Amino acid sequence: MAVPKSDANENEISRDRLAELLNEDLSREYQAIIAYVVYSQVLTGAQYMDIADQLEIHAKQELDHALIISRQIDYLGKMPTVTPKPVRTSKNAEDMLRYDLDQENETIRNYRDRIRQCETLGEYAMAEQIRQILVQEQDHQIDLARWSPRTHPAQAPVTQLAAPSRLDRGVVQMRPEVARRKR
Ligand SMILES: [Fe+2]
Ligand SMILES: [Fe+2]
Repeated sequence: MAVPKSDANENEISRDRLAELLNEDLSREYQAIIAYVVYSQVLTGAQYMDIADQLEIHAKQELDHALIISRQIDYLGKMPTVTPKPVRTSKNAEDMLRYDLDQENETIRNYRDRIRQCETLGEYAMAEQIRQILVQEQDHQIDLARWSPRTHPAQAPVTQLAAPSRLDRGVVQMRPEVARRKR
């Protein structure tokens, strides 16, 4: 049964606009690759060794995401961007992990929107690809929330830079039992 389209539907989106938004996503993936490549190498201290190893894994997963998103942009007939979003730097390990967490929160918020937009356009296969990326981004978010000292106590929501209005859009809250996910 066809659902009638409404001009007043604020979720209405064109394929060109979707390609533009996917290019924003691609810039965020480049940003994540750069951040994880650098942070994984410069984190120092015995307490960060395991975390640095995990950040290297994140870096490789972000590259996979960039390739998938680029393919979707090409499929939509547009040119994938070559420009990353700016990467914040710090010599402080806690800051680095918090920057990563902030980026993951922003990425997740955008991919949730993108899935809905793909489905609005009937691009169900594309929505499914992004859904699979989203699963990994949420794993990254959980890892970072576990490692970031500023997310303690356990009830603290993982929304340092998120506006309050985003709380109801599904940014996860950490619980100890979730944080103990095995690798
Ligand atoms: Fe990613
Ligand atoms: Fe990620």
